[in-house]
Formats: sequence, C-alpha cells, structure tokens
Amino acid sequence: MADQYQTLIVEREDGYALVRLNRPDALNALNSQLNSELAAFLDAVEHDDAVRCVVLTGSEKAFAAGADIKEMSSKSYAEMFTENFFAGISDRIARFRKPIIAAVSGYALGGGCELAMLCDFILCSESAKFGQPEINLGVAPGIGGSQRLTRYVGKSKAMDMILTGRMMDAQEAERAGLVSRIFPNDKLVEEAKLVAARIASQSTLAVMMNKEMVDAAYETTLTQGVRFERRLFHSLFAFDDQKEGMGAFVEKRKPDFKGR
Ligand code: CAA
Repeated sequence: MADQYQTLIVEREDGYALVRLNRPDALNALNSQLNSELAAFLDAVEHDDAVRCVVLTGSEKAFAAGADIKEMSSKSYAEMFTENFFAGISDRIARFRKPIIAAVSGYALGGGCELAMLCDFILCSESAKFGQPEINLGVAPGIGGSQRLTRYVGKSKAMDMILTGRMMDAQEAERAGLVSRIFPNDKLVEEAKLVAARIASQSTLAVMMNKEMVDAAYETTLTQGVRFERRLFHSLFAFDDQKEGMGAFVEKRKPDFKGR
C-alpha cells in the first residue's frame, strides 16, 4: 500500500510531503531498510504532481545518529565494495529533481549529517548537533561528508570537524553556513512545513529549474554556471507560468501557477 513503510512515517500535505525517519531505538541510524525505503519513497513521488516539495525530518532527539554501526561493523572490504555501500541512497537523493529540505533536531552525525547535506538546504532547531565523528570509529565519512561539509563550511572548519570528530551546535552551524535558519525546538516542523508549502505554491517548472541552477554552482566554473543560468532563464519564457507570474504582478493579483 502506498506510503506504508517500517522506517519512515510519511504525511502528505497540500502540495508537499513530510517524511519522518522512524527508527527511535537506534536514534534513526541509517540501515539498509531505511535507505531502500527512502529511495522507494523518492521514486514514488518523483513524478507525482501532488508532491512538489519534501521535508525530511527525524525526532526531537535525533535527525539521524549516523550510518547503522551495528549493521556495518562486521562487513568485509569485499562486501562494502560489491554492495557499493551507501551509493544507492546517496545517488537517489542527488538526482531527485524536486526540492528536499532537511529539518534537523538533535543529533545529525556521520551519515545523518551527510543525509542532511544531501538535501537542498537545512533548517534546524536550537537543539541540533552536527558532526562527522567517523574518526572516533577508526573510519571516515562515506556518504559525501568530506566533500559536502568542506563546500558548506570551508576547509578549516571541515578539517576541524572531521579530524577531531567534535560536534557543532545550531548557532555555530548557522554562522558557518551549514544551516539556513534556526527555529525554537517546538516550532521546527511547523516552520519547515510553511517553507515547503510556500515552495509548493510556486511554479513547479520554475522551482525545478532554480534548483538545477544553484546545484550547477557546485559543479561548474563561474562562466559555465552563469551561461547555464541564462539558458534556463530564457527557457522559462516558454511556459505559461511565466506569463501568469508576470501578468499577475502587472495586474496586482496573486498568481495561479499550473506547472505548465
Ligand atoms: N548505529 C547504530 N546504533 C546506534 C547509532 C548508530 N550510528 N547511534 C546510536 N545507536 C543506538 C545505540 O547503540 C543505542 O542502542 P541500544 O539501546 O540498543 O544500546 C541507542 O541508539 C541509543 O543510543 P545511546 O544510548 O548511545 O544514546 P546517547 O544519548 O547516550 O548518545 C549519541 C547519543 C552521542 C548520538 C550516541 O548514540 C553516538 O555516539 N552514536 C554514534 C554516532 C556515530 O558515531 N555516528 C557515525 C556512524 S558511522 C557513519 O555514519 C559512516 C558514514 O559516514 C557512512
């Protein structure tokens, strides 16, 4: 049955979905089941017009305390390599074309921090704690943390975090540019829903193209990125939503976007 998962709780709202990681006994540690259910959910909503934005959250205590150490601990190199451990969920989120927002309370450690950074942006509550503590386990980040944390916060702080395994609180994360906004603990999910509803009310086509433009900033030179932006900007004039958005401004009314 749709949206029936063991490790996720999915709430469908008007225009968006709220997905709660739900392995409370393991502080939402990412095991194979959770990874494949999250990938299946993204597959299910990728072409569903009723879901135009996704909020990914955890519990008050933990967004996710990392990859599941108990599941991984006895694996051999050959198993990790042949299973291509974590490539599936990482690649699936990276190619999700709609906005996905992380709403983080409590621990976002190791794979949990990496999962949040795979999202398009991170909102957090005052209780959030981010870290890449893999060094304490004698390993290293494995879902992109060494690359994405460095791009988010710069080399000095990324090295500090990754080599010491220390945690960063919400204020430090906001100062460093890891999170976009901090909310009181009891307001985070409510505020994240408002952000998602606002995105869902925009032109779906424009939202997807805006997301592609910002993502291109990570992958290209400035000149290539600006050219890519200009091409997409021009192409937006092929859609009814551009006429509706600009027409509504001129006529002093709210736009009614149709995603066409
Ligand atoms: N994997 C599996 N189980 C985990 C887990 C994890 N990453 N994190 C917590 N748990 C489990 C605990 O084992 C415990 O289970 P039991 O009750 O069965 O013992 C339960 O969740 C509650 O955890 P604690 O009792 O430890 O809770 P706490 O409040 O005392 O401490 C914590 C919280 C500081 C987050 C601590 O749980 C902790 O340090 N967790 C591990 C954090 C970590 O090292 N994450 C990186 C994992 S490796 C990784 O992610 C690799 C990668 O990049 C791909």
